[in-house]
Amino acid sequence: MLSSSSSFYSVLLVLLLCLHSSDAAAAKIGQGYRLVSIEETPDGGIVGLLQVKQKNQIYGSDITNLQIYVKHETEDRLRVHITDADKQRWEIPYNLLPREQPPAMKLTISKSRKDGGGSLQVSDYSSNEFIFSYTADPFSFMVKRKSNGDILFNSKSDKSDPFGEMVFKDQYIEISTKLPKDASLYGLGENTQPHGIKLYPNDPYTLYTTDVSAINLNTDLYGSHPVYMDLRNVGGQPNAHAVLLLNSNGMDVFYTGTSLTYKIIGGVLDFYFFAGPTPLAVVDQYTAFIGRPAPMPYWSLGFHQCRWGYHNLSVVEDVVANYQKAQIPLDVIWNDDDHMDGHKDFTLNPNNYPRPKLLAFLDKIHSMGMKYIVIIDPGIAVNSSYGVYQRAIANDVFIKYEGEPYLAQVWPGAVNFPDFLNPKTVQWWGDEIRRFHELVPVNGLWIDMNEASNFCSGLCKIPKGKQCPTGSGPGWVCCLDCKNITNTRWDDPPYKINASGTQVPIGFKTIATSAYHYNGVLEYDAHSLYGFSQSIATHQALQGLEGKRPFILSRSTFVGSGKYAAHWTGDNKGTWEDLKYSISTMLNFGIFGVPMVGSDICGFYPAPTEELCNRWIEVGAFYPFSRDHANFYSPRQELYQWESVAESARNALGMRYKLLPHLYTLNFEAHSTGAPIARPLFFTFSNYTDCYGLSTQFLLGSSIMVSPVLGAGENKC
Ligand code: GLC
Repeated sequence: MLSSSSSFYSVLLVLLLCLHSSDAAAAKIGQGYRLVSIEETPDGGIVGLLQVKQKNQIYGSDITNLQIYVKHETEDRLRVHITDADKQRWEIPYNLLPREQPPAMKLTISKSRKDGGGSLQVSDYSSNEFIFSYTADPFSFMVKRKSNGDILFNSKSDKSDPFGEMVFKDQYIEISTKLPKDASLYGLGENTQPHGIKLYPNDPYTLYTTDVSAINLNTDLYGSHPVYMDLRNVGGQPNAHAVLLLNSNGMDVFYTGTSLTYKIIGGVLDFYFFAGPTPLAVVDQYTAFIGRPAPMPYWSLGFHQCRWGYHNLSVVEDVVANYQKAQIPLDVIWNDDDHMDGHKDFTLNPNNYPRPKLLAFLDKIHSMGMKYIVIIDPGIAVNSSYGVYQRAIANDVFIKYEGEPYLAQVWPGAVNFPDFLNPKTVQWWGDEIRRFHELVPVNGLWIDMNEASNFCSGLCKIPKGKQCPTGSGPGWVCCLDCKNITNTRWDDPPYKINASGTQVPIGFKTIATSAYHYNGVLEYDAHSLYGFSQSIATHQALQGLEGKRPFILSRSTFVGSGKYAAHWTGDNKGTWEDLKYSISTMLNFGIFGVPMVGSDICGFYPAPTEELCNRWIEVGAFYPFSRDHANFYSPRQELYQWESVAESARNALGMRYKLLPHLYTLNFEAHSTGAPIARPLFFTFSNYTDCYGLSTQFLLGSSIMVSPVLGAGENKC
C-alpha cells in the first residue's frame, strides 16, 4: 500500500496524464527501417534483415540492423519477433515462459542484393487463419484475417496517421498499428478503468508492476499484461482476435481509437497474434500459449475471510465462531501479517499466536473441512539472528547492488529481496516453505508486495543510532538512509514511461533498476517479472509438499501467472465506484488467463456503509475468488457485523454454494480451455454489439448472468 492515494495527488495525476499522453503520442521520431534481405527458414518461418534508414539521437541511437522472424506457430497463432541482428538483447527467460526460440540465422545485405534488393521474394506468408505481408521501404507489416481479408494489424505510417515509423533503440522501441474505429479493445492491464472494460480512446495505459493501489485510475498497477483482445462486428459477423506483445520492460501504450502505439523502454518486439474468431477461442489459444490457468482446489471456491489486524488467535477463533453463529458459510480463514513475529516471514508471534494453540485451532477447523492461509512478503528481514535470513545469506539468494544484497524497507524494516530468477533461490525458498509448513500446516500462501514494493527508493543504508522502523507512525514511511540513483541509464532512462501515473523515476519505491539478478540480468529488464517468478517458485514448493493442487494468491502478476496463482485486485476503497470498478478488473483478468480473481469485498478501507457492504457481498458472492478483507484501521467488516449484511450474505453466498458444482466445472473448463469463470456478456452474446462495453453485469460461465445493484438507494425490483 502506498500513501499515494490522496485526492490532491489524484487530481494532479490526471492533469499530468492528459499532458503526457497527447504530447508523447503525437511525436514522429524516425525514418524507420528498410528490409534488405528475406528468406525462408528450415522451420517453415521467414527471417529478414532490416537496416535503419537514418539514425538520430532522440532517446539514444538507433540500432543499425534488426532481424525479423515470422512464423505461423500454429494455424491460429502467428509470431512476429524483431530484435537486434548483431547482438543478443534481453528477452523474458525461455525457462520462465516456455516457447520456441527464434532460429539463430545470420543474414547479410549482400545476400539480399543477390535476391534482387527491394523486390524480395516472400510477400504473402499465410496459414489457414492469417496472412502476413509487408512493405520493404520503409518497412512495415500487416496481419490480415484470411477468411474475410480484415486487416488486424498494420504498422504502416501514413502522413495523416498520428504515429510514425518503427523505432528501435536500445532503450526506446516504438511501433504502432492502425485500427478501425469500431473495433472494441479489452485488456492492457493491470489498470482500474473508470470507463469500464472497453479500452477508452486517449486514456493512458502504462504497463509496469507497481505498488500503486487499485483506487488510482488509469495507472500502472500491480500487474503487467501487454495483451489486448480486439472484437469487431463487420456486417453482423462478430470476430475476435488478440495481440500479445511479449515484453517485460516498462511501456506506455497509447490508444487513440483509430490507432495504437507502443513505446517500450527495452527488450524486443515479440508479437503473438491469436486468431479467435470467438472470444472463447481467443482465450483458448492465448492460454494454450502462456499456460493454462491453475486448477483450483474445490475448497478455494468457498467464501474466505481475512483482515489485517487480527491481533491474536482468539480474535480469529471468534471470527470463525461468529460466522457459524450467523449461519454464513465460511471455508477459509486467513491471517495477514499479525501471526508473524516482528513482521518476519515464516515466523509465529509466540505471545499472540502461540504454536500449540494455533495447531489446536487448525486441527479443529481442518476437522470441520475449513482451510487456513497466511501472507508472506518477498522482503526478508535483515537480521542476523533470524534463521530464514541466515540461510538466505548462506545460499546467496538475494538481488544485488554493487556486489551486496540490495537493501530496501518493507513491513519488518530493512529487507533484502530474493532473486527468483536464480535456481538457488528457488531451492532455498522451497526449503523455507517446507520448514514453515512443518511449523504451521497452512493450506495455501498469499504472496503480497511482490511488484516488488519498497517503502524507500534508491540506494539505502540502515541508519546508525536510529531505530528503523521507528515503532510509531505508519509502518510505510521510509526510515533507511537513502540517496537517489540518477547516474545510470537504467535508473534514468531517456524515455520516461508514465510510471505510477506521474512519470516518477522507474525505481521509485521499488528495487533500483540498476540492481541485478542472477547472471547479471538487470532489474531494469526483469522488474515486472518479480511476482510472476515468485509465483512459480511458490507453486513448485507447495506442489512438492502436499502433492495437491496448490492455492497461491499473488498481488503482482504477469503474462502466464494464471498457471500458478489466483489474484485479488489489491487495495481498493469502500466506495460505490470501487464496487463498480471491481467488475471490469475481474473481467480483464479472465482475459489475461487469471480467472480465479476477486476484489476485497466491502473494500479494503475506509469503513464501508452498511448499504454498500450489503450490495458488495451480493456482487462478491459471484467473484470467482470471494474474500472479505480489510485494513487494520478500518472498523471490523465481517459479514456478520450487520444483521442486514448477514442476511444478504446468507442469500447471496447461499446461491453461490448451490452453484459450487457449476463453479467447479467452470474451474475445470478454465484449466482445460482458458475460458474465464466470470465473463463479459459479449463472450456469449457476441452478436449483440450493445453489450460490447457492458461493465456492470457479467456472466458466470456462458449462461448465468449477474446483474447487481451498484448504486446507493437503488433497487432492481
Ligand atoms: C498490502 C496488501 C493488503 C495487506 C497489507 C498488509 O497493502 O495489499 O491486502 O493487508 O499489505 O499486509
